[in-house]
Amino acid sequence: MSTKLVMNQKRESLINEAISAQEKAYSPYSKFKVGAALLTKSGKIFTGCNVENVSYGMTICAERTAVFKAVSEGHTDFEAIAVSASSDQPIYPCGACRQVLAEFNSKIEIFVNHDEKNYTLLDLLPKSFDQEQLDSKN
Ligand code: THU
Repeated sequence: MSTKLVMNQKRESLINEAISAQEKAYSPYSKFKVGAALLTKSGKIFTGCNVENVSYGMTICAERTAVFKAVSEGHTDFEAIAVSASSDQPIYPCGACRQVLAEFNSKIEIFVNHDEKNYTLLDLLPKSFDQEQLDSKN
């Protein structure tokens, strides 16, 4: 099987998982549903949705829900993440979620529904704050 075909299958199945997770969104304030599906290098998928709060700042995005679910179950080796939302437009991970993803894999593949281009986190978050910068302290 060609690499491209395998990549397309991975993309399609992860996007479908994200779309299913989107239905679980708890978003009574924004009414904006977001779903994420995070693939580990061992082939496990963790999904997430956004969870809002009446104290708006307590809201957590779908992507971070998926990451925190995975990490709390002992998985930190991430290969790809797909994101979908209740919009006809592609919805890209917010800055906070990009930084959280960078903690685990600065080159994670990112699949966004309604944007057929495949990204890596490096495309979306160049020059992220990382351990090397932390170590550069005087
Ligand atoms: N949201 C996400 O879940 N992920 C993103 O990458 C962008 C924004 C959620 C947070 C909030 O519940 C709603 O979308 C509107 O900001």
